[in-house]
Amino acid sequence: MQDNIKVSASILCADFTKLGQEIKRCEDAGAAMIHVDVMDGHFVPNISIGGVIVQAIRPLTTLPIETHLMVEHPGMYIDHFMDAGSDIISIHAECYGPLREGCRKLGQYPKEVDSLDMDKAREDILRIKKRGKKVFMVINPGTPLCLGSLLEDLHGVLIMSVNPGFAKQKFMPEVLPKVQALRKVFKGEIAIDGGINAETAPEAVKAGANILVTASYFFGAADPKGVVKYLKSLR
Ligand code: DX5
Ligand code: ZN
Repeated sequence: MQDNIKVSASILCADFTKLGQEIKRCEDAGAAMIHVDVMDGHFVPNISIGGVIVQAIRPLTTLPIETHLMVEHPGMYIDHFMDAGSDIISIHAECYGPLREGCRKLGQYPKEVDSLDMDKAREDILRIKKRGKKVFMVINPGTPLCLGSLLEDLHGVLIMSVNPGFAKQKFMPEVLPKVQALRKVFKGEIAIDGGINAETAPEAVKAGANILVTASYFFGAADPKGVVKYLKSLR
């Protein structure tokens, strides 16, 4: 049971022709933060949006902007996104370890690791914290909990409940034991991303997640305020 459930609205399913109004919709509905899905077409098989969008929405909201970096070599882009106005930077564990056989080459997905180079990851984590921003480490469904001592440096962990790259995918309940195991040892925030809806959110919260990321469920709802109210009631 979690004290405070926060809803992070992923603008991947927003109407980009009226992004300003969509940000207002997130605020009015009671979302706690705005989730920006950045995809480079290499780390994931899709290309989405970049720093110009973070820059464009920054003056429109006081909500924290969380940038989910689904890109190779995230360290190259961290400063760019912090300069653009991101408050939280989410970086993937898979960018810091030897990729499993079968997902090393371009075009092989999902990217998965069993361990990571702690020093390399810590370097980027500390660079983010040094600027007073928050940092989350993201873990793909097939990657085990392999963060070890890095947990002490993180504000949060984001557990992917779909293989990243696209909205509107089906929730993978097999990641829930990871949420449960993490909740036992980690006092920080646990976010879950992918396939969250009225049926799957209760399981995620029960397992220990306290931040629910949602794109299609939130933006596809006739009553987004009702969606947020419902999700927050799950604690
Ligand atoms: C997937 C993204 C998610 C996605 C969620 O690669 O990281 O944030 O937008 O979309 P829904 O909520 O529709 O599964
Ligand atoms: Zn995301």
